[in-house]
Formats: sequence, structure tokens, C-alpha cells
Amino acid sequence: MKEQLLAIRERAAQELSSLSSLQTLEEFRIRFLGKKGELTAVLRGMGGLSAEERPVIGALANEVRTFLEGAMEEKKAVLLAAERDAKLANEVVDVTMAGRKPQLGKLHPLTQVLNEVKDIFLGMGFSIAEGPDVELDYYNFEALNIPKNHPARDTQDTFYVNDNVVLRTQTSPMQVRTMEKQKPPIRIIAPGMVYRSDAVDATHSPVFHQIEGLVVDKGVTMGDLKGTLETFIRQLYGEDVAVRFRPHHFPFTEPSAEVDASCFACGGKGCRICKGEGWIEILGAGMVHPKVLSRCGIDPEVYSGFAFGVGLERIVMRRMGISDIRLFYDNDMRFLSQF
Ligand code: PHE
Repeated sequence: MKEQLLAIRERAAQELSSLSSLQTLEEFRIRFLGKKGELTAVLRGMGGLSAEERPVIGALANEVRTFLEGAMEEKKAVLLAAERDAKLANEVVDVTMAGRKPQLGKLHPLTQVLNEVKDIFLGMGFSIAEGPDVELDYYNFEALNIPKNHPARDTQDTFYVNDNVVLRTQTSPMQVRTMEKQKPPIRIIAPGMVYRSDAVDATHSPVFHQIEGLVVDKGVTMGDLKGTLETFIRQLYGEDVAVRFRPHHFPFTEPSAEVDASCFACGGKGCRICKGEGWIEILGAGMVHPKVLSRCGIDPEVYSGFAFGVGLERIVMRRMGISDIRLFYDNDMRFLSQF
């Protein structure tokens, strides 16, 4: 039995030195010291020993067990350290490696310029109103002096949800909606999308953006309209820009005007961009028609007002030198990242 124990000790010591993982170490423990382990089996056989042999073999068996336990502890410490080293080596961070740049988004050119326009008007004491894209025929046309079957509808053909509901062709319905809710003094701009059943080309899109403006108060004159729009255009395009008002017709303003700015490219001499004219059309405007005022419950004998409508795409195209309106909606990063 003594030889058996010594042989176990030798073999165990050898095997132990070749173990390479915590898992095999546990298997090793079970194999030698477990309930059915080799050392345990030897100890079980001690019952058959004589009274003199028993304490001697017992002491040796204990010694072998203590030896194995100690050796396993040591081995465990070595394996744990190796495991930790391997983990550290794996997780090492190379601080010299080039970083991965997150793709930073930015505002769409239309949004950038719209924000500027809003700032300009907020600076003049306007507030910002918003209204529905799906609009009643009444607000989009009838309340603006464009009755059903009126020829003025031809230039603003749109998408009909039904006979009385349309996708708005202009932001002008916001004039009526605002005046119905709010009594003068009124000073608002109303930016938003508008829709027309136009075929797509370099300067037309069935969806585009307008910014409506409306001022109503006592004693508002055409002079106020001119001053406000000149201030707006000069803040947007620069102090040297000349502004021109041309007589025009809109059913819901009287008198009406189209407003041009001197060409940003040639300064007014005439070039390809302004088609030789020296001027570029920026917006439509006029004094709010007395019938529109009274339809909204505002007495035209007491109050007067002006309104204007700016096409956002057009002013962004002209300011940023963009020649095709479709580029705004393609979402091509090669285009968008230029602004
Ligand atoms: N709504 C007009 C258009 O889309 C522009 C406009 C607005 C004209 C306000 C006068 C006053 O053409």
C-alpha cells in the first residue's frame, strides 16, 4: 500500500505539471481526491490493515493528500495568472491606432436658409405660424377670392383629396387661418410645404416650400411692405442688393407686386443666371384685399395689412448657385455635404 501511495504521488505530480487549464485541473482533482478518486480508493482499503500498519499508512496517505492539495493550489494560482495575462493581452488598446470618425450629419441647405429667414423675421418682431398641408378648398382658394372654376386656379392645379379638400398650392391659406383666430395687430410668417401638379424638371417640383408673411394693423401701408421686404432681402443677400417692385396681379391682394432683387451673380449688368435681365424674381406680395379682411371678421375701414409669399427653393438656388431643384430631394451626400 505504501508503494501504491508513493506511485500515486509521483504520477499525480507529473500530470499536474502538464495541466494547462483550470478545467483540466478540476478534472484532475476529481480523479485523485474525489469520492471515487484514486487516493480515496486507497484509503478505503485501509480497513484490512493491521493495527501497526494503519497509523503509518494513514499518516502517509494524509501526507500525500496534503501534498496534492498544496500542489493544486499552486497550480491554480499559476493558471489564474496565465488566464489573466492572456485576457489583458487580448484586450490591449492600441492608442496609436487611427480612430473611426462617426459620420456627422448637418442641416439640409433648405433648412439652413429657412432658419436664417426665420431669424430675420423674428428680429423684426414676427412670430412663426404653422398650418396643415392637407387643406380645405375654402382656405386655399375661395377665401382668397379664387372661386371654383376661376381661371386663376389653372396655374395652381393640385392634388384633390375630394371636391373640398386639396393639398395646399400655396401658404396663403395661412393668412385666412391666422386672421380667423387672431385679431390685429398680426405679424406672422408661415413656412411650409406646398403642392402643385407640375411635371418635374430643373425648376419645377410637385412639392416645394414657401414662406408666407402677413402683417395686419391700423395704418399699415405699401411703404411698410416695401421697407419690410427690402430689409429682408438685404439681410439675406447683402446690403448692396437693389430691390424692385413690379405691378402684378394676385386675387387676394390689391395692389399686388412681384419683387425682384438685383442679380447676385452680375450685380445687375445682365448675365446667364438672370437671363440678361439684371434682376431675379424673389417673391409675390401685396396689400391684403379688403374682401379677404372682412371675410375673416376684420374691418377693412379700420385695419389694413400686407402679405407676401417667398419660394424657399428659389432663394436657396440663387444664393448657393444651385441650378437644378431636383438636387434638393435626391439626398445625395455628394451634393448635400457641399453646404
Ligand atoms: N401665394 C402666392 C403664390 O404662391 C404668393 C403671394 C403670397 C402673393 C402673398 C401675394 C401675397 O404665387
